Amino acid sequence: MTDQKVMIINFGGQYDQLIARRVRELNVYSEIFPNDVTVETIKNYAPKAIILTGGPKSVYEEGAFTLPEEVLQMGIPILGICYGCQLLAKMLGGSAQTVTDSRMREYGKTTTYFDTDSPLFYGILKKSVTWMSHGDKITCLPGRLKAIANSKKCPFAAIADEENKIYGVQFHPEVTHTVYGRDIIKNFLIRVAEVRPDWRMADLKETLVSQIKQTVGDGKVLLALSGGVDSAVAAALLKKAVGKNLTCVFVDHGFMRKGEPDLIEKTFSDGKINFIRLNEQQTFLSKLKGVTEPEQKRKIIGKTFIEVFEKIADKIGEVDYFAQGTIYPDVIESGKNEAQTIKSHHNVGGLPSVIKFKKIIEPLRSLFKDEVRILGQELGLNEKIVFRQPFPGPGLAIRVIGEVTEEKLNIVRKADAIFTEEIEKAKHFKPAQYFACLTNMRSVGVMGDKRTYSYAIALRAVETEDFMTCEFSKLSFSLLEKISLRIVNEVAGVNRVLFDVTGKPPSTVEYE
Ligand code: XMP
Repeated sequence: MTDQKVMIINFGGQYDQLIARRVRELNVYSEIFPNDVTVETIKNYAPKAIILTGGPKSVYEEGAFTLPEEVLQMGIPILGICYGCQLLAKMLGGSAQTVTDSRMREYGKTTTYFDTDSPLFYGILKKSVTWMSHGDKITCLPGRLKAIANSKKCPFAAIADEENKIYGVQFHPEVTHTVYGRDIIKNFLIRVAEVRPDWRMADLKETLVSQIKQTVGDGKVLLALSGGVDSAVAAALLKKAVGKNLTCVFVDHGFMRKGEPDLIEKTFSDGKINFIRLNEQQTFLSKLKGVTEPEQKRKIIGKTFIEVFEKIADKIGEVDYFAQGTIYPDVIESGKNEAQTIKSHHNVGGLPSVIKFKKIIEPLRSLFKDEVRILGQELGLNEKIVFRQPFPGPGLAIRVIGEVTEEKLNIVRKADAIFTEEIEKAKHFKPAQYFACLTNMRSVGVMGDKRTYSYAIALRAVETEDFMTCEFSKLSFSLLEKISLRIVNEVAGVNRVLFDVTGKPPSTVEYE
């Protein structure tokens, strides 16, 4: 284990894992700690640098999170971000005000001017865009601190006590919209704190395997295997950690894509892992009868999954641990800390509150999709599995808008297969994710001189790195025309094909 560790102290911001990810990208090991971390813990952990995250509160609010004064006297370089920056200013004797005038607040892209003589801003342009999101601003600095960046509304957009290597930035360097964000974090870690970047994804593999071993011991683990990237990587990790005590269960809920259940069975029943396939198509379909509300659909699917897993666990006997391939975007969208629920991913917000298993194991819970893929490669998984496009646990059930029926599932499955086939044929261009969705809209058409009143299929194709945000893929009109013609000709019940040109935000990747 490296001694070049960075401690991230979390004040409840949206981007804590994004900061950890940026640090990992620089080959530096980091861990996130709660904001009530003690001086004792910090001393024992002995970090080479500390990063304080943003948070939704004002440092002037009653009960606002703070840090023991001693932390600033430990000689450890500190970078405070947003809330973390204001906290540093307050602790070092400065003052700030909570800005109530919305014209004075800063949200979004902001032109910022940097003092590039500061090591924090080494090698960047004197003027560039940062991402701000704050309602408080620092108004007065004590002598010990100096301003090293400013913006129109914020004279102290970054502050520094360079002698003691304490820095604060009002903007978010971890967000991609801050043009030099990665350079600033790198400057802080490598130039200011002199951390040696000696950590690799292979180290994470070993850390995760040993954490699983420690938790599970000789216990039996049942893993929910969907055949997607995340659960396949989780399976490979668990196999390494617990060997024969792992059983992977694939539940065919009837919402898989064309040919997928058999392909999954063929891939995973090669004798290397204990694999069970359960055919539960009718169970899921009957539970969704008459249900149209997306969150309710997701919750029913999550609950039914668990019931099926509990049943099979009883059959196997003495299974204490339930494992799944949950990744970080599933967690944040399902609503975490102060973050709002966007949608209950079946494996997080869709889980019932009481389950029969002793513990849920989610080794990938803090990783982003592209990091999971790197880990999959480290584990030696087949590239075909590692680079599969993602597919949501609730499957086609959330790609049929409104009530799910067998007829609608067949329509969307056929349309999706055609879309996939044509994208694969096009070869030169592969979106990060692409699929067909059956809208709940029927409209009038004319086919063979006859009036039709049939469904519209929406095609969705997106470009993204981490699935937290996306842009729509700029597919060529000729390719879209070919796909559209094939769908209306080959899929009964469809007379219109639409192409989705929205990004995330304001949309999400999936429709429900
Ligand atoms: P959204 O629709 O939230 O999707 O923008 C982001 C990524 O997550 C996938 N997704 C899910 N994955 N369980 C999953 O395992 C779910 O319930 C779920 N919902 C969305 C989606 O396909 C996209 O890749």
